Order: sequence, then structure tokens, then C-alpha cells
Amino acid sequence: MTQFDHVLQDVDKRCREEGIPMLGSKKAEFLAELVEIAQPSLIVECGTAIGYSGLWTASKLKAAGKGRIITVEINPQRAHEAQENFARAGVSHLVDSRIGDAKEVLKTIDEPVDFLLLDNNYDNYFPCFQAIESRLTNGATIVADNVGIGAEGMADYLEHVRSHYESQIHWFEIDLPWVKRDAMEVTVYRKKAT
Ligand SMILES: C[S@@+](CC[C@H](N)C(=O)[O-])C[C@H]1O[C@@H](n2cnc3c(N)ncnc32)[C@H](O)[C@@H]1O
Repeated sequence: MTQFDHVLQDVDKRCREEGIPMLGSKKAEFLAELVEIAQPSLIVECGTAIGYSGLWTASKLKAAGKGRIITVEINPQRAHEAQENFARAGVSHLVDSRIGDAKEVLKTIDEPVDFLLLDNNYDNYFPCFQAIESRLTNGATIVADNVGIGAEGMADYLEHVRSHYESQIHWFEIDLPWVKRDAMEVTVYRKKAT
């Protein structure tokens, strides 16, 4: 087993034992495939927790030899733990870990973003989308997690993307201690014609 796999296994175990939210392997594999297809230059992630999803996406960027991640976490303790995990896994050069409220931090990003992962508090999905929209590239991939269990809390986001863009929901049977079935929604962002 590689050092990277050891760290991923440790993070998975710690999340399960401590009830720290994470994607779990099925949704993470799906996310990693999307990253592999999109070959993004910049991924923005809202909701780092202790780095589980970041490790999966960073491993794909490392393999592709291209791209980096800006990931935002409001809980400083979790963000610091994630930073240690990225360093132990040998991917910290690919990850810019920021601490703060994602909808505010996203306003400070002034580079093109071609992949967005929404995995923070549900009522922040739409504010985060709005905060970064002007930097999203035409054809950018947006992945929203917890669209099954959190649909009500993110109703404004879902209504907006479903009525403006191509959006597809994907359901998963999952083995997390706190949820057994949930969905992710993938949206292809299109710039408005000017
Ligand atoms: C579902 S977890 C993220 C899981 C992570 N993406 C993974 O799969 O390993 C959600 C995280 O979002 C953080 N969070 C909640 N509200 C936030 C906000 N407004 N801005 C940034 N992070 C936030 C929480 O502290 C929590 O750690």
C-alpha cells in the first residue's frame, strides 16, 4: 500500500469514528472520474472537512500532471487537520486550503474556475454558486453533494441550475454510518450569450 493510500484509509477511519462528514468511497470514485474527464486547471471545493474528497481529487490531478484545488473550510480545526493530511499524502503542493465562510472566500478568487464542488452547508450552495459564477468557465463542471438528503435546504440552488443548465442527478447506495442512500447532481455551466 502506498503512503497516499495509508492516509486515505486513516482519514476514512477517522471520519467514520468521529462522525466527520465525508463523501465515502462510492461518491468519491464518481467525483474522481468526473475530474479525470474534465481535466480541470482549477477546482474550487466548498467544504474541506478533513480532506477526504480533496485527497481523491488531488490524486487525479497528480496523475494528470495538471491542475490544482482551492478548498474552503469554515472550521479551522478541520482545515488544519486537512492540511496535515494533504502534506502526509504528498499532495499539498496541489491544494490551497483556505479557512472561512465559502460564500465570502469565493468572492476573492479571481482566476477562471472549471470545476466546482459544493459540499458545505446546504443553504450556502446557491450563495457560493453566485459568488463564483463570474469566474466559471463556459462548460465548467459543477458537482453538488447531498442532493438526496439535502434537497429542501438547497432548493434555491437546485431550482436555478435545473431551469438554466443541463443537470443530472446520480443516486448512490452508500455505506456511511450516518446515511445509506443519497445523490449528487452534476451540472454543466454555460455562459450566457452576450
Ligand atoms: C460534508 S462536509 C465536507 C466533506 C468533504 N468534502 C469530504 O468529502 O471529505 C461539510 C463541511 O463544510 C463545512 N462548512 C459548513 N459551512 C461552511 C461554510 N459556510 N463555508 C465553508 N465550509 C463550511 C463544515 O464545517 C464541514 O466540515
